[in-house]
Amino acid sequence: MKKRAPELAQRYLTALREHLGSRRPSGAATARELGHEVMSGGLNTLELARMHEQALVVLAASHDFANARNGMIRRAGNFFTEALIPLEKVQRATRHSLKQLQQRAETLRLHTAALAAGNRQLKREVRRRKAGEEAVKKGKAHYQLLFVQSQFMQKKLRHLARQILSAQEDERREISRELHDEVVQTLVGINVELAALGRAAAMGIGALRAKIASTQRLVEKSVSAVHQFARELRPAVLDDLGLIPALHAYMKIVAARKKLKIRLTAFAGVETLDSARRIVLYRVAQEALTNVGRHAQASAVAMSIVAIPGAIRMEVHDNGKSFQVPQTLSAKANKRLGLLGMRERVEMVGGALTIESAPGQGTTVRAEIPFCPTTAA
Ligand SMILES: Nc1ncnc2c1ncn2[C@@H]1O[C@H](COP(=O)(O)OP(=O)(O)OP(=O)(O)O)[C@@H](O)[C@H]1O
Ligand SMILES: [Mg+2]
Repeated sequence: MKKRAPELAQRYLTALREHLGSRRPSGAATARELGHEVMSGGLNTLELARMHEQALVVLAASHDFANARNGMIRRAGNFFTEALIPLEKVQRATRHSLKQLQQRAETLRLHTAALAAGNRQLKREVRRRKAGEEAVKKGKAHYQLLFVQSQFMQKKLRHLARQILSAQEDERREISRELHDEVVQTLVGINVELAALGRAAAMGIGALRAKIASTQRLVEKSVSAVHQFARELRPAVLDDLGLIPALHAYMKIVAARKKLKIRLTAFAGVETLDSARRIVLYRVAQEALTNVGRHAQASAVAMSIVAIPGAIRMEVHDNGKSFQVPQTLSAKANKRLGLLGMRERVEMVGGALTIESAPGQGTTVRAEIPFCPTTAA
């Protein structure tokens, strides 16, 4: 398009000359037309100005121009201004569109920024929801586990409760049998003796005295049997004198009854334990000694109570025959409560119970319960 520049320059010169030469200047329309052509020819304001300048140089050399230079320069200026108008209009329109374009670009930029912010927010929300879902899933699994564990515990508890009830029944049967065999038999004996006493009143004083003495022995026997029951059920000495005297008293009974040698060495500070913990130790010793007497066929038992860091340890060791500890404890059909009861009692006060049994080495029952001398009751 720019190829048309020389041709346009020539036409511009001709048109300007005509405009300047005519009496009534009528070149405004021509100038605008040329302006349009310059613009559609792809030329800009500067090139139009150059065309105008060249034309002026050419015209300045001519005779007419030399005569009336001042007026002509003004009229040539008007011509140039007319030619510029189309270009100016377009430029103004272009500037306007450019401004609009810039405004749109700015609006677009703002929208894009808002969209990006929205997008970021959305991503955050998605992440938050995913984390929430994960937490809910984990929570569900956790509660399922807790549910299963609680069902298991409930089952265990029901089983234990049943065992306790049946052990209670066994114990009642045992007490009733012993009451019958020991106390009732003795009381029947006393009655028989009293009847004999009635008859013996007719006898001499010597026979009467002998009868009274034997009746007294029967009464003493039943008194001591009742005492023994009371001691085994809840030894008063444990509350009145303490754990060590209570253990000594119980050891004496078992030693005599089962023909066993029992030795006790004890840390005196054990008496500062609260009464609940002392009873736990007493019951463990009681059950362990009963088991030795019933099952171990032992000849000697060594009992010890010592202080270890943070706890008190009690051991009951016998030299009798051993038994399979894990199998006995986990046996499904295990109806025995002794070992389980010991463990329950010790664990109830935050302690731990271990049992070791090996052929040729007898059995050791070890209970450790928390003990802190400064806080002990
Ligand atoms: N010191 C021991 N020496 C040898 N065997 C033992 C000893 N202590 C326990 N046992 C074995 O472990 C089993 C379980 O003992 P556990 O005290 O739980 O029940 P039990 O004494 O048979 O009955 P109970 O419920 O009346 O105590 C006993 O039957 C016995 O076979
Ligand atoms: Mg037992």
